[in-house]
Amino acid sequence: MLKVSNLTKSFDRVLAVDHIFFHISIGEIFGFLGPNGAGKTTTINMICGLLNPDAGEIELDGQVLTPDRTGLRHKLGVVPQEIALYEELNAYENLRFWGRLYDLSGNALKGRIHELLQLSGLAERARDRVKTYSSGMKRRLNMIAGLLHRPALLLLDEPTVGIDPQGRHNILDSVREIAAQGTTILYTTHYLDEAEALCDRLAIIDHGRILAMGTEGEIKSIVGENAIIRITGDISKEDIEPLTSRFAHLKIESQKERELLLSFSTAERAGDIIEAMYASGLDIENLQIKEPSLDSAFIKLTGRELRD
Ligand SMILES: Nc1ncnc2c1ncn2[C@@H]1O[C@H](COP(=O)(O)OP(=O)(O)OP(=O)(O)O)[C@@H](O)[C@H]1O
Ligand SMILES: [Mg+2]
Repeated sequence: MLKVSNLTKSFDRVLAVDHIFFHISIGEIFGFLGPNGAGKTTTINMICGLLNPDAGEIELDGQVLTPDRTGLRHKLGVVPQEIALYEELNAYENLRFWGRLYDLSGNALKGRIHELLQLSGLAERARDRVKTYSSGMKRRLNMIAGLLHRPALLLLDEPTVGIDPQGRHNILDSVREIAAQGTTILYTTHYLDEAEALCDRLAIIDHGRILAMGTEGEIKSIVGENAIIRITGDISKEDIEPLTSRFAHLKIESQKERELLLSFSTAERAGDIIEAMYASGLDIENLQIKEPSLDSAFIKLTGRELRD
């Protein structure tokens, strides 16, 4: 659906996007995860034609995007990071305005507006002025404005910034629904949990560079993240030794009093290890598994935490 090769952009002395490559397949939700200033918006702006790249190529549906191929950009919908709505108009009027910019009119536009108001849960408030909306509602309206012309690919630039957990939850549900209806999605965020919950594949981007890309599991294994098994009970290191020699990727991390921490890489199946633990007659009182997190993968890759 989208193929980006060697895309590069600098502003004065800042290399905002540094020779990046990625592709998004039809039907995917692809995440772009990175902190402030990583280059997410700059990338989106180049894809939708607001910025000219210094170098690189963008292919949409098998065709290279060039300034004269404006028709091709109709396949794209963009939801900007900054909310672009008229506060004095109601939701319906805002959508009608955006629809006309996309050359939609008449019953086709009306029908589409109703569909999208339903999808976003805004139908009941459609006749109220936008200035009376919560920030979550504004975000949802901003989002459906990018969908009026039924784009094949939707570019979402941090659609949940500045809204409460309930509002975020609603947005994530709407994004899933949009994807289920057949729209391919590029979703940028600096929230790890959103990337985990939503995206089929993702790229971790920082200082304009893609540091890792793949499914959540692939990224964790690239970074070499391990899952942790925490067991409590009357168990010594010696009791565990037969297991660590049987499972090559199982290691003892630490032991204190009645607690033992073991790590294993994703090369092992958690189920096999746990089954073997119980089968070997260990005196286990409590057992917990902590899956490797994208959080620690991110810290390993960038050397710091994602910040707001
Ligand atoms: N118009 C511009 N002029 C100068 N520098 C810019 C411009 N736009 C972006 N930059 C710089 O390019 C880098 C990438 O910015 P960009 O807005 O793409 O990041 P982002 O990942 O979208 O961040 P955020 O999460 O804050 O939205 C930053 O260092 C930023 O200061
Ligand atoms: Mg941005």
